[in-house]
Amino acid sequence: MRGQTGVGPQADVYAAFSRAEDAEERVLARLLARADFRSRRVLEIGVGAARYTAALASHAARYVAIDVSPELLALARRRLAGTKVELVEADMLAIPLRDASVERIFASWSFPAYGAAEESLAEAFRVLGPHGEIWLVGNAPDGDFMEMRGEAEMRREAAGQAWYLNHRFSIAATVDTEFVFPSLAEAGRVLVAIFGPKAEAWLSRHPSRRLARRVNIYVARRPDKADGDRGRTRVASTL
Ligand SMILES: C[S@@+](CC[C@H](N)C(=O)[O-])C[C@H]1O[C@@H](n2cnc3c(N)ncnc32)[C@H](O)[C@@H]1O
Repeated sequence: MRGQTGVGPQADVYAAFSRAEDAEERVLARLLARADFRSRRVLEIGVGAARYTAALASHAARYVAIDVSPELLALARRRLAGTKVELVEADMLAIPLRDASVERIFASWSFPAYGAAEESLAEAFRVLGPHGEIWLVGNAPDGDFMEMRGEAEMRREAAGQAWYLNHRFSIAATVDTEFVFPSLAEAGRVLVAIFGPKAEAWLSRHPSRRLARRVNIYVARRPDKADGDRGRTRVASTL
């Protein structure tokens, strides 16, 4: 969860990085406009520091959020105090929910599982009920932010986007967001601390305290039985 946790030795830099970004409200507004979580049983995968969780959960009937990291769950717990969100330490490859027990799955920058993409998708479809939907948020492979991170990262994000599009996902929306730093010097301090010399090189070519980022919102509907690829059907423990 590089760059987003606000924990660790560079906490100050990461906090300044997230403060500069306006993605949260813009992405959330689009999600709430497009994805219907009202009165639904929802599972969030890889909740991290719970960026969108409280707002999405306020519309849901039940909202379970999992993460493998106890440290990030502790951050989420603080942020979600007083909400109905049920936080559970669990791996997305072994979700402790029954087959077909949720109606919506949500994940931002955390799905599929690293090195086990197909398995995590099968496990998500296992817990998703009929007509269920998976909503995902991730980087689009273009925009200043990706250009600053370099060719290799852009290719990696493009491959990620292709994976989604080849696995039942379509792009429901692309949201233009922006990092706005208080000054060019602060942009340099934060971006170079996180992304290294390539950020310095990029800023020397594009000296600006603003950095555009494009975010994709993806949606996939659960395949029905006739498709024959719903994934495993074992029953996991109950929550
Ligand atoms: C980049 S962070 C994104 C966090 C949050 N969703 C956000 O938008 O800020 C990825 C999150 O996925 C979690 N994660 C990674 N692998 C996981 C797994 N196998 N099962 C559950 N969570 C996982 C990490 O602990 C981390 O919180």
